[in-house]
Amino acid sequence: MSERKKVTLPVLFDKIANGEPITWLTCYDYPTAYFQEQAGIDMILVGDSLGMTMLGYDSTLPVTMNDMIRHTQAVRRGAPNVFLIGDMPYMSYQPSNETAVLNAGRFMAEAGCDAIKLEGGREMAPRIAAIAAAGIPAFGHLGLTPQSASALGGFRLQGKSALQAHKIIEDAKILEEAGAVGVLLELVPDRVCQITTERAENCIIMSLGSGPDAHGQLLIYHDLFGLYPKFTPRMAKVYGNAGEMILNGLRQYVTEVQAKEFPEPKNYFGMKEDAYNELLKLLG
Ligand code: KIV
Repeated sequence: MSERKKVTLPVLFDKIANGEPITWLTCYDYPTAYFQEQAGIDMILVGDSLGMTMLGYDSTLPVTMNDMIRHTQAVRRGAPNVFLIGDMPYMSYQPSNETAVLNAGRFMAEAGCDAIKLEGGREMAPRIAAIAAAGIPAFGHLGLTPQSASALGGFRLQGKSALQAHKIIEDAKILEEAGAVGVLLELVPDRVCQITTERAENCIIMSLGSGPDAHGQLLIYHDLFGLYPKFTPRMAKVYGNAGEMILNGLRQYVTEVQAKEFPEPKNYFGMKEDAYNELLKLLG
């Protein structure tokens, strides 16, 4: 295992100053976290998308803080040096500033996170300010915000009209002024992302399906490798079909066990002749 330098906020801001794009992926388990760290990924988001990708729910809404903490701890064990962001699940921050700070604190204390992320625009500025005041770096999330998918009319492009685009650009600034260290723009037009990034002064703007002009890119890990059986969104790029490879391997295993081709002698252990004879004696 190669040791990587710990990715911190100054490392990320240095990348921005040097014009180097930041790499960000979701991750939910130990082995994948290990591979992501070895591959040089800068930031990992333990997203509440784990409700869909790992737990098989139809939305992110049933995910609890305990689900999030368990998966985030596993990811931290696999990737000790990435910048790790815990995603605040539904109703872990919406009710009050106090709830938000306590749950953000759990990500830091129990799971070793470097920051948290929560969804919402100007209405969430007080939550961001309270979390930042507690010394916890916070990321905002604008555009398509899955916890509000119902209110947004489904999983679709946001900020298409000038008025909606203006609101997203303003919201990003309001979150930055409230203390957000970063803002994720999900599924907004490329020009909205470009303007938001140009206007950011001390805030990391990241794109998920929002074009190339942010400070970096985020994708859902399962979409990169065909691992989510229900669909692959248009914004994702598939880098390899691991889902198909796994399914083929599983079918081959079933066939080989049924045909008595597995196991072969190299897959199990024999017993020395004298020990075997002794055993037969013991058995009478
Ligand atoms: O939960 C998640 O993975 C997210 C992404 C959709 C950004 O919030």
